[in-house]
Amino acid sequence: MWDEILASIGPEPAQISLEEYRARQNRLLNQLRPDDLLIIPNPAHSTRSNDVEYPYRTSSDMIYLCGWTDLDSTMVAQQVNGAWEVTLFVQPKDVLSEIWEGRRLGKEGALENFAIDRAESKDDLEIVLIDMINSSKRILVKSAVDTTIDEIVNNCITAQSRDRQKLGIGPISVEDPSGRISELRLRKSAAEIDLMRYSAVVASHAHIEAMKNTKPGVGEWQLEGIIEGFFKYGKTSGIAYPCIIGSGDNATILHYTVNDDICEDGEILLIDAGCEYKGYASDITRSWPVNGKFSTSQAEIYQIVLDSQLAAIDACRIGNPYDLPHEIARGVLAQGLIDLGVISQNLEEALDPTDGELRFWYMHNTGHWIGLDVHDVGVYRPDNEPRLLEEGMVLTVEPGLYFGAWRPDVNCPEKYANIGIRIEDDILVTKDGPDVLSKNCPKTIEELEGIIGE
Ligand code: GLY
Ligand code: MN
Ligand code: MN
Repeated sequence: MWDEILASIGPEPAQISLEEYRARQNRLLNQLRPDDLLIIPNPAHSTRSNDVEYPYRTSSDMIYLCGWTDLDSTMVAQQVNGAWEVTLFVQPKDVLSEIWEGRRLGKEGALENFAIDRAESKDDLEIVLIDMINSSKRILVKSAVDTTIDEIVNNCITAQSRDRQKLGIGPISVEDPSGRISELRLRKSAAEIDLMRYSAVVASHAHIEAMKNTKPGVGEWQLEGIIEGFFKYGKTSGIAYPCIIGSGDNATILHYTVNDDICEDGEILLIDAGCEYKGYASDITRSWPVNGKFSTSQAEIYQIVLDSQLAAIDACRIGNPYDLPHEIARGVLAQGLIDLGVISQNLEEALDPTDGELRFWYMHNTGHWIGLDVHDVGVYRPDNEPRLLEEGMVLTVEPGLYFGAWRPDVNCPEKYANIGIRIEDDILVTKDGPDVLSKNCPKTIEELEGIIGE
């Protein structure tokens, strides 16, 4: 049904190569000391109700370092005879479990297909890991991901073993490696960018399908169904976060996910939806009139947000502070509202974080890192200075204006009552300037009016 669209997108990109996983591991392991032990735990499955579990999503660090996505697994790296050895603990082959729960690669499959040196059964985790911990000085592990691992590490650290007393050996400290891994994940490789671009292209077409099916009387949930259906049809793993499908005053609720309202004639519809492909997220927002034609008031607000977004995207350049797009977007939004008479202050006053009137109508940041997590890892202000953008970083640019007439805290201008506009794209920083990964998703007033209800 959507085959033609998918054909126009082209083939799925190449997967991350074993060499690239090795290179990622080495970039991390080369920062460590010979007697360190690195442990990458995975979260446990969580139960939804009796015998029913939530879909499993492994830890992003695990995906990043070896691409393994099954549950009940742990990655460990330790030096053996002067060289790092990467071990993956996995579910062992087991016919009965596989009949009920699905196929397992087992130890052999893991060793054959993944960038690891050794595979062990998760059933042997405790006994093998205790040995590894006791022959290390520092343990690098993120706590509170897998309580079993936390317990094993804590017991080893606190154990007053004979060896520790006699020979002074055993682990003495625990450190969280997340900061080091985040620094690596912040800069995307060419292969990662291909996956992110695919994720963004599929999400763009999902938005277009929702635009085509928008008309007065359609249910928010029906558009959600089209979007999520397209994500699956496009062979992604589905949503990267719950879809926000807000019509009318729902468009002024930033994280509205109820999606159970009817889209009415004359309303604006705001859709914030992105998919996850091979672990990589896209995050796109578009806002358009339900009846296919922007009213004068809607167009006025829409154009200000679009102008602010385009100006902010243009600031996504190597060497610029990460928050420059935010400052630029705020400036354009505030000036636009001053020109419309919504804000009575001057520009400087309007932008004041405590007293400026812009804060009534624009209350969030203009973007965030995006990658394996939709709100991806990476410190924004290392040493409390704004991070400067580098080639390969990917961030969203998503300014908005929200006139919730239902809000008791503000006097919403009647002319703009219940107009909520956000426009969000995913931007790759390149040597040649900003590259909009989600550029297939239309956003000018003319483009949108030409598609809605088609
Ligand atoms: N979809 C969540 C966000 O835009 O940050
Ligand atoms: Mn976002
Ligand atoms: Mn979003």
